[in-house]
Amino acid sequence: MEKKLFSPYKIKELTLKNRIVMAPMCMYSCEKEDGFVTDFHMTHYVSRAVGQVGLVIIEATAVTPQGRISHQDLGIWSDEHVPGLTKLTEQIKQSGAAAGIQLAHAGRKAALRDEIIAPSAIAFDEKYKEPKAMTIEEIKKTVEAFRLAAERAKLAGFDVIEIHAAHGYLINQFLSPLTNKREDEYGGTAENRFRFLREVLEEVKTVWDGPLFVRVSAYDYHEEGLTVDDYVTIGASLKELGVDLIDVSSGAVVPARIHAYPGYQVKFAEKIKHEADVATGAVGLITTGIQAEEILQNDRADLIFIARELLRDPYWPRTAAKELGTSIESPKQYERGWIF
Ligand SMILES: Cc1cc2nc3c(=O)[nH]c(=O)nc-3n(C[C@H](O)[C@H](O)[C@H](O)COP(=O)(O)O)c2cc1C
Repeated sequence: MEKKLFSPYKIKELTLKNRIVMAPMCMYSCEKEDGFVTDFHMTHYVSRAVGQVGLVIIEATAVTPQGRISHQDLGIWSDEHVPGLTKLTEQIKQSGAAAGIQLAHAGRKAALRDEIIAPSAIAFDEKYKEPKAMTIEEIKKTVEAFRLAAERAKLAGFDVIEIHAAHGYLINQFLSPLTNKREDEYGGTAENRFRFLREVLEEVKTVWDGPLFVRVSAYDYHEEGLTVDDYVTIGASLKELGVDLIDVSSGAVVPARIHAYPGYQVKFAEKIKHEADVATGAVGLITTGIQAEEILQNDRADLIFIARELLRDPYWPRTAAKELGTSIESPKQYERGWIF
């Protein structure tokens, strides 16, 4: 019987050849601090496409220079970023994978020399700068920056856009009551805290009608923070706004100790999938084909996001296929590798 991990998955007009997604991972490799794609990015992402990942989502890519996590982040804040990203999507797609991009703004978690901004003027911890609380004008400009970034992502040929609303970055800072102490229409009630993300999605949708993912942190690991129940409600709103899949991670909005074990976030993906009736991706310490197949066969998530294991093994899909007793396609250049 065909393994579900290697079965196709259709989102709108896009068909992924399998359920394996390379999760976004910052490579901090723009040595010139200009946000441009480097030779390293080409080799790194294209290797995973050659390794038969179905969808390669490139790292958190900053929608404004001030929204970078570090000075070495990839950027999409200007039209000049488009040619490099285009070359990258062409190469990824030539190797049979779909290409996705994670659009991001770090907010108070930007480790930058200049001023940083956030919903409220509260530093993440003593190692981070105190951010400036955003004015309404800055909020509107940032929402616009996400739209411009989506427009450029489309021009660059990406198949999927993922909005980074997790890990305590800007959008997550608006969502969580731990980081959002605003008293205007962007803070206070759950609906107000959701407003920034809603506006980002509404703007993005004016220029993007392709597959749209949102990554969330489904648990703040803090007694006054958000839990997966809150994210069931948020998940339902995201679905209503036309989001195709929720990539379910957790934590990092405030410093907290997280007990991580194999598949520790799968239960959040499962709950959101069933209770909000929306497709989800599972991520976090999923390292084996058997684990991935279990999650899919038990209908706990729709896609499997792999991060660190793909750093250790760029050909992980092949490793997983072997483990599951099945075979997968090779790039045609490698077919001789199977003839003895
Ligand atoms: C080097 C590195 C960089 C990461 N950068 C990002 C990122 O840009 N965006 C994001 O949403 N998550 C990022 N993550 C988190 C991963 O996408 C993933 O959620 C996490 O590593 C757990 O999955 P894993 O156990 O398969 O590694 C990063 C993780 C690593 C190890």
